[in-house]
Amino acid sequence: MKKLIIANWKMNPETIEEARTLFSGAKRTAKQLHRVRAVICPPFVFLDDVSRKITSVKCTLGAQDAFWEHNGAYTGEISPRQLAELGVRYVILGHSERRLLGETNEEVNKKVRACLAENLIVVLCIGESERDKQGEYLDFLRNELIQSLARVKKKELEKLIVAYEPIWAISSHNKGADTPENVLDTTLFIRKVLTNVYDKKRGAMVPIIYGGSVNEDNAESFLQEARVDGFLVGSASLDAQHFSALLKISERAKT
Ligand code: PGA
Repeated sequence: MKKLIIANWKMNPETIEEARTLFSGAKRTAKQLHRVRAVICPPFVFLDDVSRKITSVKCTLGAQDAFWEHNGAYTGEISPRQLAELGVRYVILGHSERRLLGETNEEVNKKVRACLAENLIVVLCIGESERDKQGEYLDFLRNELIQSLARVKKKELEKLIVAYEPIWAISSHNKGADTPENVLDTTLFIRKVLTNVYDKKRGAMVPIIYGGSVNEDNAESFLQEARVDGFLVGSASLDAQHFSALLKISERAKT
């Protein structure tokens, strides 16, 4: 399976020129690679411009959110259909920074189902805000996953990616990345939940990626030791050189 390296630009950069430069850098590197798929998720306002430059399946386009209705009186929202129309293939849903603004599992679930219905590939983010020794964070993760996937059918898992992002490990929290050992344990747990809810075959199929302070120094150990299927990358995706280095490391990783 190709490694999925998903760039979450968040609310960056500030200008379209910077967005173009950043995007061209990622695309140039991705074009030379065979075992990596890069997905760039710029802010909505840059999607149209960047979508005109995408010609390669090795470097595709994603959005950072979507609403659950296809059209109508929903001021400020963007629908899955509108995204698909632009050539967007992936959508990040349930990112902790959106959940922090009040998004609930029920809302994430409505978005997940609407995007899947539009044939978009959903990158569903889950992650605990704290890790306790008693392991209660695992119950939290199980609930987040199960509630976000309510009424999603087995067949639709083909279009699902789970991004495990412990909130405290995201670079804006300054606590540093999780360890490959913990990520391995937690991603095995996530796979077990998927297997229990669906079945072994489908549960095994869903790519599980890691996010939280991923950079060129720690990427290899996450790929080798935690055996993740890729990364959701925030701050390191905002520097063309760092992001290209990450793509090349993922290409070389022996997993
Ligand atoms: P980070 O962000 O790589 O800057 O930690 C990851 C994310 O929030 O998706």
